[in-house]
Amino acid sequence: MKERAQRLDEEYAAALRDHLAGEGEASLQQAYELGRRAIASGLGLVDMAALHYQAVLSLLPPSPGPGEYARAIEAAGAFLAEGLGPFEMAYRGFREASDVLRRLNETLEEEAKRIAHALHDDAGQILVSAHLALESLAADMPAARDQLQEARGLLDQVEEQIRGLSHELRPTILDDLGLVPALEFLAKGMAKRAGIAITVEGPRDRRLPPPVETALYRIVKEGLANVSRHARATRARVRVEHEGRLARCAVKDDGKGFDVSEVMARKGERGLGLGGMRQRLGALGGTLEIVSSPGRGTELQITIPVEG
Ligand SMILES: Nc1ncnc2c1ncn2[C@@H]1O[C@H](COP(=O)(O)OP(=O)(O)OP(=O)(O)O)[C@@H](O)[C@H]1O
Ligand SMILES: [Mg+2]
Repeated sequence: MKERAQRLDEEYAAALRDHLAGEGEASLQQAYELGRRAIASGLGLVDMAALHYQAVLSLLPPSPGPGEYARAIEAAGAFLAEGLGPFEMAYRGFREASDVLRRLNETLEEEAKRIAHALHDDAGQILVSAHLALESLAADMPAARDQLQEARGLLDQVEEQIRGLSHELRPTILDDLGLVPALEFLAKGMAKRAGIAITVEGPRDRRLPPPVETALYRIVKEGLANVSRHARATRARVRVEHEGRLARCAVKDDGKGFDVSEVMARKGERGLGLGGMRQRLGALGGTLEIVSSPGRGTELQITIPVEG
């Protein structure tokens, strides 16, 4: 990598020299090609600026006349702009991919909403019918009253579970009351199922834009699923903050922790959870930091810019 970067340095300086000597279009094309290769070698914009600066320093005449100096700086500027062209294209591609991902997430959310409502309403209707059928059976068969009562108790449990699942799938509470109440509801259900104490802290009276609330809800949900599946934790804490143009959220557990760089470097058998969080955040311009080490618990630190 270092060797490749050095070769690029030299080629860049040579092409810039040609350009300053008046090679025109041909050297500009070379600048573009070098920009493409810089991206392929993993260089960023800051590296490119440094490379350009070094090349300019090495090429400027030791004591240029005023007109010569201005011409050289202008020509070097045009050369740099051409070399940055591929970065601009890559950035546009990234923006477009982010837009597509954001739209895809919105479509999936709509679908989750539809399924959650269908589950809640349709299954609810069937359960009401089943209750009515059992009631009329109980009237006809007084001897079976106790068993029928038991069956009705089981139906109540099913109803409760379906209600819980449909709310977790797309909690109406998220749309109606906002992120913190929705996370409290989620945490309560997960704490009960996983046997972990989960606390949620954050402003209950401030709303964030719907895509931000949805993303944070989904990410915390996956984060808590990881805590219950992998962490062997006894407690977890979710904290939401909204400062100026930033929404922050942290999910922290006191479990066994893990080696983040080892897990992120895994190919193939790696799960979708942490990667999915990063992608979802990327589409909104947000970031995820994972602070964890074996034996010392895990903290997900999420930041999302909030417009307006
Ligand atoms: N809170 C945590 N405590 C301990 N280990 C964790 C925690 N969160 C993640 N991990 C580790 O990181 C790995 C990757 O997590 P990720 O959510 O990406 O995948 P997964 O949970 O294994 O699978 P999936 O989420 O796709 O069902 C996990 O397999 C686990 O080893
Ligand atoms: Mg997971």
